[in-house]
Amino acid sequence: MTNSVNQQSTAAAPAADEPIVRIAGLWSVFGQGENAFAVHQDLDLDVQRGEMLSIVGGSGTGKTVLLRQMLGLLAPSKGRVEVLGRPASEMGREGAASRVGMLFQHGALYSAFSVLDNIAFALREQGTLPDDVVRDAAMVKLQMVGLKPEHALRMPANLSGGMIKRVALARALIMDPPLLLLDEPTAGLDPTSSDEFCALLHEMRAELGLTVIMVTHDLDTLFALSSRVAVIAEKKVLVSGTPHEVAGFSHPFIEHFFQGERGRRAMTPVQGGKAAEAN
Ligand SMILES: Nc1ncnc2c1ncn2[C@@H]1O[C@H](COP(=O)(O)OP(=O)(O)OP(=O)(O)O)[C@@H](O)[C@H]1O
Ligand SMILES: [Mg+2]
Repeated sequence: MTNSVNQQSTAAAPAADEPIVRIAGLWSVFGQGENAFAVHQDLDLDVQRGEMLSIVGGSGTGKTVLLRQMLGLLAPSKGRVEVLGRPASEMGREGAASRVGMLFQHGALYSAFSVLDNIAFALREQGTLPDDVVRDAAMVKLQMVGLKPEHALRMPANLSGGMIKRVALARALIMDPPLLLLDEPTAGLDPTSSDEFCALLHEMRAELGLTVIMVTHDLDTLFALSSRVAVIAEKKVLVSGTPHEVAGFSHPFIEHFFQGERGRRAMTPVQGGKAAEAN
């Protein structure tokens, strides 16, 4: 273990500023009786305002479950998941959309709705604003994510992968939440679209002062964006730190994740920006 890397097994020290996300003693148990299994066991994680935290871990280690708990879609079996000082599971659907935006892992757009109607969805569902105001707000978000007004009436089936991600991002941000959760945002994108989406996220984060929590297995995305990386292994946050600090931590998952050929490439600075994918 290196000294520069924080072990997260102990409770977080009281911070001067209240963390935007506070997870303490979290247990997530699925199944009944003999078939019950714990995905998280006494997991602790605090996220401060303005952080861009990447969460990594093997498949099935409960990364998506953790995001769903922060969104309030899933209650912890035991322990606390607090967002902006309140239990996430008490936010309710509307409250959640104005506090937390989420880009789901396999998050398709509503295929029967146009781009604009997809973006407007949460605001329209709230039912408090006249429709022209809702449409104007959706139009602002559409342009904010780099799409053009003429894309507003397109249907999802006629969009590229990169455009779908942009629409999903605009949809997640329609209520101006301070916290954005991203589940594998660049999975399935070609290297160019992936780079463009990372640049957009970087820009959005600076412009809107967002706190971002992202699950990713893409090392280029991780190195391009993260201010901190948290590794989920052994049912908890095993270690967290800067990408390079975490990469030096001795654990089979981390060695496999960072020290393969892709990892070495992502960690090698390339002139003009982040390391490029070979294909
Ligand atoms: N609602 C549920 N009911 C029962 N089991 C669940 C439920 N949600 C998740 N699980 C289980 O919890 C474990 C963690 O799932 P999760 O989707 O969070 O993994 P993940 O880390 O996101 O994996 P991946 O990298 O493949 O997306 C899996 O074994 C999954 O089957
Ligand atoms: Mg997942």
